[in-house]
Amino acid sequence: MDVVKQTDTPFYYYDLDILRGTLEEISHQIEGYPFVVHYAVKANGNPLILKEIARHGLGVDLVSGGEIEAAVEAGIDPKRMNFSGVGKTDWEIRTGLSNGIGCFNVESVPELDVINEIAHEMDTIANIAIRVNPDIDAHTHKYITTGTADNKFGINIEVLDQVIAHATSLPHVHLLGLHFHIGSQITTMQPYVMLCDTINDLLSHFEEKGIQFDMINVGGGLGIDYKHPDEHPLPDFKAYFDTFKKSLQLRPGQVLHFELGRAIVGGCGSLISRVVVVKENRNKKFVILDAGMTDLIRPALYSAHHEIQNLTSHGDGQPIETYDIVGPVCESTDMFAHDYPLPLTRRGDLIAIRSAGAYGESMASRYNMRRLPGSVFHSSK
Ligand code: LLP
Repeated sequence: MDVVKQTDTPFYYYDLDILRGTLEEISHQIEGYPFVVHYAVKANGNPLILKEIARHGLGVDLVSGGEIEAAVEAGIDPKRMNFSGVGKTDWEIRTGLSNGIGCFNVESVPELDVINEIAHEMDTIANIAIRVNPDIDAHTHKYITTGTADNKFGINIEVLDQVIAHATSLPHVHLLGLHFHIGSQITTMQPYVMLCDTINDLLSHFEEKGIQFDMINVGGGLGIDYKHPDEHPLPDFKAYFDTFKKSLQLRPGQVLHFELGRAIVGGCGSLISRVVVVKENRNKKFVILDAGMTDLIRPALYSAHHEIQNLTSHGDGQPIETYDIVGPVCESTDMFAHDYPLPLTRRGDLIAIRSAGAYGESMASRYNMRRLPGSVFHSSK
């Protein structure tokens, strides 16, 4: 903890032991199955996290040219890179093709044509999967659900026949399979069972037409326990992978791909901040931190819950007070929690905002011309 006390706040603190434990648990759960797990880099592109991912041999799911470059830099095998996203620009497609990435997850017919055209110009063939919008409500936050029919993502099932026929007619794309992603922070298995049912139907449908797929990609979305980070530092990977083992009828030779972000890095990171001032207004006590929405935007953007701890006074005999815990940015939404119980908190105390490894550092901004948060890594080995 000394390193924590000496480092300028705010910063992200990553526990590599937790990250490694998570990656080992994933390897254990998929052993013996034709499963490939990709890490969704958008959750956290910190170079040291990417190196750890590369060291464990995972693939990656990428959504921008910048992420392709970061993954190449970290030493990820390009054949294990998927490139998703509804608006891939020409340079990003070129960057993907020149690096020989494994698969483009294609979101629309115009995009399919552009990839075919650019691959033609570059005298190559792009491996692709068609992203299907399976119209499944993942019952998660409305801003992070992605698989319902009126969402901008994917291609609707009713036009899939034509789109597949079109894809197979293009000379510079090679259709590998189908891609799905139904949303994020999913904590029950039922939406995934529904996804498996939809995929089973689609596989039978296309088989009748003589079309077989080498791979199926079910995206990511497995949630973490934001309320109990110490009791459940890892999500229930067994329940998750078992759902696909039981419910999906993979065909011989078919490979199943996953794209997990939050489930891999969410639990290993905390945002560490210092109390700048404790202030009282008429009805409220405010703990004002040196971290704000620019460092961790999830509470401001999605009203997301993160557990908060005072690392300086652990409650040993201290009275518990109720505080609004806020940042210094000039926005009323710059807050981390309302009416939150903490032991008596004073200026200078160190505060940990837990479960911030995913979509924390990667969504940081420089609004108010603030500095970006730093990062500190802990490892017992
Ligand atoms: N694959 C695709 C195509 C995606 O769009 C996403 C996330 C993932 C995989 C990884 O999802 P995960 O396993 O991390 O749930 N900023 C929001 C989350 C946005 C997720 C966007 N897509 C948050 O902080 O909750």
